[in-house]
Amino acid sequence: MKTLVILAHPDLTNSRANKTFMEVFNQDEEFVVHNLYELYPNFAIDADKERELLLAHNTIVLQFPFYWYNMPPLLKKWFDDVFVEGFAYGKGGNKLAKKQMFVSLSDGGAPESYTDFGYAKYTLTELLRPLEATANLCQMDFITVHSISNVSNRTDLEIVESAKEFIEKVKKVKRLSN
Ligand SMILES: Cc1cc2nc3c(=O)[nH]c(=O)nc-3n(C[C@H](O)[C@H](O)[C@H](O)COP(=O)(O)O)c2cc1C
Repeated sequence: MKTLVILAHPDLTNSRANKTFMEVFNQDEEFVVHNLYELYPNFAIDADKERELLLAHNTIVLQFPFYWYNMPPLLKKWFDDVFVEGFAYGKGGNKLAKKQMFVSLSDGGAPESYTDFGYAKYTLTELLRPLEATANLCQMDFITVHSISNVSNRTDLEIVESAKEFIEKVKKVKRLSN
Protein backbone atom coordinates (compact mmCIF):
# COMPACT_ATOMS: atom_id res chain seq x y z
CA MET A 1 0.00 0.00 0.00
CA LYS A 2 1.28 3.46 -0.89
CA THR A 3 2.28 6.08 1.65
CA LEU A 4 0.11 9.19 1.55
CA VAL A 5 2.01 12.47 1.82
CA ILE A 6 -0.13 15.40 2.96
CA LEU A 7 1.85 18.37 1.69
CA ALA A 8 1.01 21.81 3.08
CA HIS A 9 3.12 24.71 1.84
CA PRO A 10 1.43 28.10 1.27
CA ASP A 11 3.96 29.20 -1.35
CA LEU A 12 5.42 26.17 -3.06
CA THR A 13 6.69 28.22 -6.03
CA ASN A 14 9.22 29.91 -3.78
CA SER A 15 9.96 26.83 -1.69
CA ARG A 16 13.26 24.99 -1.80
CA ALA A 17 12.92 22.30 0.85
CA ASN A 18 9.30 21.21 0.53
CA LYS A 19 9.34 21.49 -3.26
CA THR A 20 12.41 19.25 -3.36
CA PHE A 21 10.85 16.77 -0.93
CA MET A 22 7.74 16.70 -3.16
CA GLU A 23 9.85 15.99 -6.23
CA VAL A 24 11.75 13.20 -4.48
CA PHE A 25 8.50 11.64 -3.22
CA ASN A 26 7.07 11.87 -6.74
CA GLN A 27 10.01 9.87 -8.10
CA ASP A 28 9.15 6.99 -5.80
CA GLU A 29 6.14 4.89 -6.73
CA GLU A 30 5.50 3.97 -3.08
CA PHE A 31 4.54 7.57 -2.28
CA VAL A 32 1.57 9.65 -3.38
CA VAL A 33 1.65 13.39 -2.73
CA HIS A 34 -1.56 15.22 -1.88
CA ASN A 35 -0.93 18.93 -2.22
CA LEU A 36 -3.42 20.73 0.05
CA TYR A 37 -2.73 24.32 -0.98
CA GLU A 38 -3.04 23.40 -4.67
CA LEU A 39 -6.31 21.52 -4.11
CA TYR A 40 -7.89 23.98 -1.70
CA PRO A 41 -6.58 27.50 -2.44
CA ASN A 42 -9.76 28.90 -0.85
CA PHE A 43 -9.53 26.65 2.20
CA ALA A 44 -12.78 24.90 1.21
CA ILE A 45 -11.65 21.40 2.11
CA ASP A 46 -13.66 18.45 0.77
CA ALA A 47 -13.64 16.61 4.10
CA ASP A 48 -15.47 13.49 2.82
CA LYS A 49 -12.91 13.08 0.07
CA GLU A 50 -10.05 13.58 2.51
CA ARG A 51 -11.50 10.97 4.87
CA GLU A 52 -11.80 8.50 1.96
CA LEU A 53 -8.17 9.12 1.12
CA LEU A 54 -7.11 8.49 4.71
CA LEU A 55 -9.11 5.26 4.82
CA ALA A 56 -7.28 4.05 1.71
CA HIS A 57 -3.80 4.45 3.26
CA ASN A 58 -2.12 3.06 6.36
CA THR A 59 0.90 5.35 6.44
CA ILE A 60 0.46 9.10 6.42
CA VAL A 61 3.23 11.67 6.19
CA LEU A 62 2.60 15.29 7.11
CA GLN A 63 5.05 17.40 5.10
CA PHE A 64 5.24 21.13 5.84
CA PRO A 65 7.44 24.13 6.61
CA PHE A 66 7.53 25.10 10.30
CA TYR A 67 5.67 28.41 10.65
CA TRP A 68 5.63 30.09 14.06
CA TYR A 69 6.52 26.80 15.73
CA ASN A 70 3.51 25.21 14.13
CA MET A 71 1.96 23.84 10.97
CA PRO A 72 0.68 26.19 8.22
CA PRO A 73 -2.99 27.19 8.66
CA LEU A 74 -4.51 25.01 5.92
CA LEU A 75 -3.07 21.90 7.55
CA LYS A 76 -4.54 22.93 10.89
CA LYS A 77 -7.92 23.41 9.16
CA TRP A 78 -7.51 20.03 7.50
CA PHE A 79 -7.36 18.48 10.98
CA ASP A 80 -10.34 20.54 12.16
CA ASP A 81 -12.49 19.56 9.16
CA VAL A 82 -11.40 15.97 8.57
CA PHE A 83 -10.65 14.53 12.00
CA VAL A 84 -14.22 14.66 13.28
CA GLU A 85 -15.95 12.76 16.06
CA GLY A 86 -17.25 9.39 14.93
CA PHE A 87 -14.43 9.13 12.41
CA ALA A 88 -11.20 9.98 14.18
CA TYR A 89 -12.26 9.82 17.83
CA GLY A 90 -15.27 9.36 20.12
CA LYS A 91 -18.07 6.85 19.65
CA GLY A 92 -17.35 4.77 16.54
CA GLY A 93 -14.39 7.01 15.83
CA ASN A 94 -11.70 4.45 15.32
CA LYS A 95 -11.23 4.75 11.55
CA LEU A 96 -7.64 5.90 11.88
CA ALA A 97 -6.64 3.36 14.52
CA LYS A 98 -3.29 1.67 13.92
CA LYS A 99 -2.42 3.94 10.98
CA GLN A 100 1.07 5.40 11.11
CA MET A 101 1.69 9.14 11.26
CA PHE A 102 5.05 10.60 10.26
CA VAL A 103 5.95 14.28 10.45
CA SER A 104 8.52 15.73 8.07
CA LEU A 105 9.17 19.43 8.34
CA SER A 106 11.59 22.07 7.22
CA ASP A 107 12.65 24.97 9.38
CA GLY A 108 14.82 28.04 9.31
CA GLY A 109 16.63 27.55 12.60
CA ALA A 110 20.31 26.74 13.02
CA PRO A 111 20.86 23.06 13.87
CA GLU A 112 21.17 23.66 17.64
CA SER A 113 18.09 25.95 17.79
CA TYR A 114 15.72 23.19 18.75
CA THR A 115 17.59 21.90 21.76
CA ASP A 116 17.31 22.67 25.48
CA PHE A 117 20.16 25.18 25.17
CA GLY A 118 19.21 26.60 21.75
CA TYR A 119 17.26 29.83 21.27
CA ALA A 120 13.91 28.07 20.86
CA LYS A 121 14.52 26.27 24.18
CA TYR A 122 12.46 23.28 23.12
CA THR A 123 13.10 20.35 20.85
CA LEU A 124 10.96 19.78 17.76
CA THR A 125 9.56 16.67 19.42
CA GLU A 126 8.37 18.82 22.33
CA LEU A 127 6.95 21.54 20.08
CA LEU A 128 5.07 18.94 18.07
CA ARG A 129 3.36 17.37 21.08
CA PRO A 130 -0.08 18.57 19.88
CA LEU A 131 0.33 16.42 16.76
CA GLU A 132 1.51 13.51 18.83
CA ALA A 133 -1.47 13.94 21.20
CA THR A 134 -3.78 14.07 18.18
CA ALA A 135 -2.32 10.80 16.92
CA ASN A 136 -2.76 9.29 20.38
CA LEU A 137 -6.39 10.38 20.60
CA CYS A 138 -7.04 8.79 17.21
CA GLN A 139 -5.16 5.60 18.17
CA MET A 140 -2.63 6.27 15.44
CA ASP A 141 1.04 5.38 15.82
CA PHE A 142 3.06 8.59 15.93
CA ILE A 143 6.33 7.35 14.51
CA THR A 144 8.91 10.10 14.25
CA VAL A 145 9.69 13.70 13.39
CA HIS A 146 12.10 14.21 10.52
CA SER A 147 13.44 17.71 9.99
CA ILE A 148 15.69 19.64 7.71
CA SER A 149 16.85 22.71 9.59
CA ASN A 150 18.58 25.89 8.48
CA VAL A 151 17.15 25.54 4.97
CA SER A 152 18.51 28.81 3.55
CA ASN A 153 22.06 27.60 4.21
CA ARG A 154 21.57 24.17 2.71
CA THR A 155 22.75 23.08 -0.71
CA ASP A 156 20.26 21.54 -3.12
CA LEU A 157 22.07 18.23 -2.71
CA GLU A 158 21.72 18.31 1.08
CA ILE A 159 17.97 18.81 0.73
CA VAL A 160 17.69 15.91 -1.73
CA GLU A 161 19.75 13.72 0.61
CA SER A 162 17.55 14.63 3.57
CA ALA A 163 14.44 13.69 1.55
CA LYS A 164 15.96 10.37 0.52
CA GLU A 165 17.02 9.65 4.10
CA PHE A 166 13.45 10.29 5.25
CA ILE A 167 12.02 8.03 2.53
CA GLU A 168 14.31 5.22 3.64
CA LYS A 169 13.19 5.77 7.26
CA VAL A 170 9.53 5.43 6.24
CA LYS A 171 10.19 2.34 4.17
CA LYS A 172 12.14 0.72 7.01
CA VAL A 173 9.36 1.35 9.54
CA LYS A 174 6.79 -0.02 7.10
CA ARG A 175 8.90 -3.12 6.47
CA LEU A 176 9.37 -3.74 10.19
CA SER A 177 5.69 -3.31 10.97
CA ASN A 178 4.47 -5.68 8.25
C1 LIG B 1 5.52 32.93 8.25
C2 LIG B 1 6.79 32.18 8.56
C3 LIG B 1 6.99 31.69 9.83
C4 LIG B 1 8.14 30.96 10.11
N1 LIG B 1 8.31 30.46 11.38
C5 LIG B 1 9.41 29.71 11.64
C6 LIG B 1 9.56 29.14 12.93
O1 LIG B 1 8.75 29.27 13.84
N2 LIG B 1 10.69 28.40 13.16
C7 LIG B 1 11.64 28.20 12.18
O2 LIG B 1 12.62 27.51 12.45
N3 LIG B 1 11.49 28.72 10.95
C8 LIG B 1 10.40 29.46 10.65
N4 LIG B 1 10.24 29.98 9.39
C9 LIG B 1 11.19 29.60 8.33
C10 LIG B 1 10.61 28.46 7.50
O3 LIG B 1 10.32 27.32 8.28
C11 LIG B 1 11.57 28.05 6.38
O4 LIG B 1 11.76 29.18 5.56
C12 LIG B 1 10.99 26.94 5.55
O5 LIG B 1 10.86 25.76 6.33
C13 LIG B 1 11.85 26.61 4.36
O6 LIG B 1 11.21 25.62 3.59
P1 LIG B 1 10.82 25.89 2.07
O7 LIG B 1 12.11 26.08 1.31
O8 LIG B 1 10.07 24.67 1.63
O9 LIG B 1 9.96 27.12 2.04
C14 LIG B 1 9.11 30.74 9.09
C15 LIG B 1 8.89 31.25 7.81
C16 LIG B 1 7.75 31.96 7.55
C17 LIG B 1 7.53 32.51 6.15
